[in-house]
Amino acid sequence: MILAANWKMYLNENDSKEFIKKMHLESDIFEEKNIMIFPSHSSIRTVKNNSNLPNMIIGMQDCSEILDGAFTGENSISSINIDACIVGHSERRNNFNESNETIEKKLNNSLKCVKNTILCIGEKKEEKERNETYHVIEEQLSILPKDLQGSRLIIAYEPVWSIGTGLVPTNEYISDILSFVKKYLKELYSSEICEDILLFYGGSVDEENIKKLSEISLLNGFLVGSASCKFEKFKKMIKAI
Ligand code: PGA
Repeated sequence: MILAANWKMYLNENDSKEFIKKMHLESDIFEEKNIMIFPSHSSIRTVKNNSNLPNMIIGMQDCSEILDGAFTGENSISSINIDACIVGHSERRNNFNESNETIEKKLNNSLKCVKNTILCIGEKKEEKERNETYHVIEEQLSILPKDLQGSRLIIAYEPVWSIGTGLVPTNEYISDILSFVKKYLKELYSSEICEDILLFYGGSVDEENIKKLSEISLLNGFLVGSASCKFEKFKKMIKAI
């Protein structure tokens, strides 16, 4: 199991440094675990400079759809040496009106430039209520290219109605969606490529529910927001996986 911590804009540079320091003070708990940390963009350098846990991957929460040029304020994925990137997070889709076309460009930049690419997918509450979940997910997956360019692809299923709300779907609900995703991937890629693609769940994961969620057989990891920013909660989740 992999625990991916999406720190969003919760932790500033100092907080991030302190968090990493605490991890190193208790390195015996963390060094054997597979951890991905996504600090805010301005804290990536500090996190990188202060960490040397062997299994820790550091990445960007998002990237520009453009790789270089005169684009003031954009953050190109090729501007910093990192190993992972998240694209298509629902906060990007919904708060910044990112279309599937925009996310497709970001996805391709990430696949081209970094070793691990997380594509987030998931339905909104009203889409769920209209029974459109599978249709939405299929549309969000439709941007996947045939060629993954050697990057490890991770599909993170994150129902929008679950992010930051404390509402967590049942294990059966998540399993059904992941089975659908798996079937979609099998139709698109060879079995060899499919074996390398990982499936995550995200949405109100915390130290209380992570153990139960870990029982989902198709699951390879979690993308965790707010609970991953509090060191004690993070530590408990790491111990539980
Ligand atoms: P949450 O966020 O854990 O705070 O619900 C998850 C996410 O946005 O990836």
